[in-house]
Amino acid sequence: MKTALITGVTGQSGSYLAELLLEKGYHVIGLKRRTSLLATDRIDHIRDNSDFQLVYGAMNDVGSFYRIFKEHKFNEVYNLAAQSHVRVSFEVPEETVDAVAMGPLRLLECIKTMQPDCRYYQASSSEMFGDNPEHPQSETTRLMPASPYACAKVFAHGITRNYREGYKLHASSGILFNHESPRRGETFVTRKITLAAARIKLGLQDKLSLGNLNAKRDWGYARDYVEAMWLMLQQDESDDYVISTGETHSVREFLEEVFQLAQLDVQKHLIIDKRLERPHEVPLLLGDPTKAKLKLGWEPKTKFKELAKIMYEADLEYVRKLKI
Ligand code: GDD
Repeated sequence: MKTALITGVTGQSGSYLAELLLEKGYHVIGLKRRTSLLATDRIDHIRDNSDFQLVYGAMNDVGSFYRIFKEHKFNEVYNLAAQSHVRVSFEVPEETVDAVAMGPLRLLECIKTMQPDCRYYQASSSEMFGDNPEHPQSETTRLMPASPYACAKVFAHGITRNYREGYKLHASSGILFNHESPRRGETFVTRKITLAAARIKLGLQDKLSLGNLNAKRDWGYARDYVEAMWLMLQQDESDDYVISTGETHSVREFLEEVFQLAQLDVQKHLIIDKRLERPHEVPLLLGDPTKAKLKLGWEPKTKFKELAKIMYEADLEYVRKLKI
């Protein structure tokens, strides 16, 4: 039986990855930061599974890593923990950089010292391409990060490669483009839209405030993407891989698609709020997933319209049940 550590297990991707690894027969240790509210709703359904264990730790507390590595022998470590909101990273840049850049460095040092045979997955991000107009973006596209979050991700991406080459660790980075689902945090744009459409439909909300509608993203389904993370760690050699759908759509298109599903008129409910714009925007992300297809045999299963439908229908159900 393999044992895996997932940092950020209470997040969207962490929860899907934990499910996948449990299905595959792993023993899964999930790392959780202490918060006054438990915030385990995404993993509550697996908490009773005897192969799943939640442990307290933090990306800025190296002692917590060493304690956990003393207690468990890991085959694989998936680093998904982050302050992952790009706009918020302009407001709390130091905290973001500490978790997103220094966190992986601390984890890699711990792996190097304690369990160098353990395989490591780094959650790199398409945000690293920033405002580079070149597209589609691949593993070799120049990184031009446009936020404190993205700058920190570039460091983490680089240090992962550095530990791979310098210390021969099996350390891979998945450059994941935006990945969404009904478990997406409510302040990210897709979920904000699907939740608002459901609430408007059921008479619980009237207006939806958004920032820049022209930004384009390559949006995939988080459940599909965690499979690619696992596949990366099953390869003989570690490497970097772009994980994306190869399609790009604007925020406006996502909004129109969801409002059409809800049979709502966008113009009646939309407010453009300049305060939601970013000091430095990433205008267009479009990934080229060819390498992942060729080397991992991975392909996205869920397309844009289907993703919008899955998310809207889940939110309609959620709002109907909870009346919130
Ligand atoms: N969040 C948010 N809220 N974004 C808005 C809004 C709004 O009200 N209005 C317009 N947008 C635009 C943003 O300006 C951005 O261009 C786009 O919608 C997507 O924003 P987010 O959903 O917040 O995601 P992101 O692309 O910035 O970052 C996400 O994807 C990255 C991978 O590329 C995050 O999940 C990152 O953690 C991840 O690395």
